[in-house]
Amino acid sequence: MKATARAHTNIALIKYWGKRNESLILPANSNLSVTLDGFSTETTVHFQEGLKKDSFHLNEQNVEGDALGKVAIFLDKVRALSGKEIYAQVQSVNHVPTAAGFASSASGLAALAAASSKAIGLSLNDTELSKLARQGSGSASRSIFGGFVEWQMGKREDGSDSFAVQIADKSHWDIRIAAVVLSKTEKKVSSREGMRRTVETSPFYAGWLEQTAKDLQEIKQAIKVKDFEKMGSVAEANCMRMHATTLGANPPFTYWQDTTMRVMQTVQTLREQGIPAFFTIDAGPNVKVLYLPENEAKVKKRLQATEGVEDIIISKPGSGISYR
Ligand code: DP6
Repeated sequence: MKATARAHTNIALIKYWGKRNESLILPANSNLSVTLDGFSTETTVHFQEGLKKDSFHLNEQNVEGDALGKVAIFLDKVRALSGKEIYAQVQSVNHVPTAAGFASSASGLAALAAASSKAIGLSLNDTELSKLARQGSGSASRSIFGGFVEWQMGKREDGSDSFAVQIADKSHWDIRIAAVVLSKTEKKVSSREGMRRTVETSPFYAGWLEQTAKDLQEIKQAIKVKDFEKMGSVAEANCMRMHATTLGANPPFTYWQDTTMRVMQTVQTLREQGIPAFFTIDAGPNVKVLYLPENEAKVKKRLQATEGVEDIIISKPGSGISYR
């Protein structure tokens, strides 16, 4: 009753921002991401008779408290599905090139879903796995697949039609995604709390929802025909609108720091100089920059010269779940 799985993290080009059902994790809008080959989590789950509770080691350190709680709540769902009352030892390693606050719930929960369901003897297909991972963390539903991935929000209230599908695999389009590591990051509002507060209190939320469905259709077409400027500009605008909703929340908040804005300006300057580069930002201060491989040297140089930038980690579109 032991299995090991690896999942890569993903960056949303059309954001998931807001839930219509908190307990099943059903999103208020369909969304789309690209899986990144530079960041992954490898997790081993070992169910054993005689254990009195679950345990969790992350990067070889024993973890208790909220992080263990999240793992145990997720394993409760897996136990319920299998009908087996048995606890597990969970060991995870985050493969992130530098320690820079890039640990991701998407790769973590996707790897946990794959390893735990296999270890307990459920044989789930990728669609079922995506639905299971979704219940751990919404963005994890997308990390089951590689390349370009859409999480279809679904219509049903039981969540049975809310799962991710692959739009194009990683070999479809050779783009690059630079994750910009900032030299200092402050404590943030979690994405879970941030989206809840925004949905409940921000008058801008309705405008976000209205536009995001259009953005999704446009970006899917741009990916299909490999129109980089179109894809990048839609992704950047969608990111800006998501972040605008947080300023309207009560109390208002932003994920941006000074360096976040400096990196955004660098990307705009690159474009003014004729280099197609676009940014996107999740629920934190880090910026991801999209560009084409032929522009790598120039993009890297400009980003590295930006004040407050510590490092740059470059990814290509990555693969979905794998087992060892
Ligand atoms: C801004 O998937 O971390 O990164 O479902 O509450 O676990 P929970 O949230 P999470 O939210 C991700 C939000 C985002 C946008 C995105 O990845 O689509």
